[in-house]
Amino acid sequence: MVKWTLVFKASNIKFKSSFNAFITYKDIIMAHEFLHPTSRFSNKVALITAAGKGIGKTLSLMMGLEGARIVAVDIDSDCLNELSKELQEKNIPFLALKANALDEASAKQTVDQAFKHFGTIDILVNGVGGSTIHGRSSSKIDEMELSEFEELLKFNLSGTFLMSRSVLPIMKKQKSGCIVNIASIAARGNAFSNGGYSAAKAGVVALTTKLAMEIAPFGLRCNAIAPGLTMTERMVTALEKTSADEMEKRISQVPLGRFATAEDQAKVICFLASSEADFVTGSTIFVAGGL
Ligand SMILES: NC(=O)c1ccc[n+]([C@@H]2O[C@H](COP(=O)([O-])OP(=O)(O)OC[C@H]3O[C@@H](n4cnc5c(N)ncnc54)[C@H](O)[C@@H]3O)[C@@H](O)[C@H]2O)c1
Repeated sequence: MVKWTLVFKASNIKFKSSFNAFITYKDIIMAHEFLHPTSRFSNKVALITAAGKGIGKTLSLMMGLEGARIVAVDIDSDCLNELSKELQEKNIPFLALKANALDEASAKQTVDQAFKHFGTIDILVNGVGGSTIHGRSSSKIDEMELSEFEELLKFNLSGTFLMSRSVLPIMKKQKSGCIVNIASIAARGNAFSNGGYSAAKAGVVALTTKLAMEIAPFGLRCNAIAPGLTMTERMVTALEKTSADEMEKRISQVPLGRFATAEDQAKVICFLASSEADFVTGSTIFVAGGL
């Protein structure tokens, strides 16, 4: 086994091995990266909304384990506490903020607090959204109340708009940063979900493309994922009443033969937020098993 002894040489720290070969700090970092090839987010700060549950929670832990410092934002303090415990156990540096991403003042304050705490925001993931409002979900457009339609637009679009707008001055000043939005396969309009949700998620896709165009001159990127049905806790509960036959039918419609997991979605978000996707912007990746 190689034993390392520290040798101080002027201001440059060098390490001396039992083989008498000098190894610089840079070599050690390179060796670390070789042994831990997934530390893609070392020194990065990732602000994630809807972090308390589902895709956002899995993503917070995944990015944290790859070196990111996490700003976990959620409106629900219970799930935020649960996530905080898990981040703490894994020694992931984090800041948990209870906030409503759909509220203009709250979105701005959240970004300000995150920046004050960590001094940078490198990644913003906009996860707030969903196909139902207060448990209500109408399937047909001609059955939908205007209030429900408008709430769905707000739930899925406004947070993405407000959080992005709040973080952009910081990222523009840094001349680096990226945003990943969570749309849905519903954006294509042919999925199971309702018309309000489809329209809102199509809006997220359009906002992603438009924002990417606007911020590209500053060296910033914006992309989205469009998940198919993903077995987060919420979906497991929602599907509890679905018959086994119906479940089998729905699964058989997915070319890859299963529903997605939160990990499936988080992995693609990590790719888009990493330097592996340095030349990818304005894109929406469908993570839907071939649908
Ligand atoms: N799960 C799926 O099948 C699926 C499929 C396609 C797209 N999506 C999209 O993925 C995203 C995440 O979905 P999920 O199923 O992982 O979520 P989830 O419902 O499991 O969790 C959402 C989290 O968002 C938080 N939240 C709700 N409103 C908020 C607000 N105003 N401000 C801050 N936090 C708020 C909730 O408290 C909750 O912790 C959503 O945009 C959803 O539309 C999910």
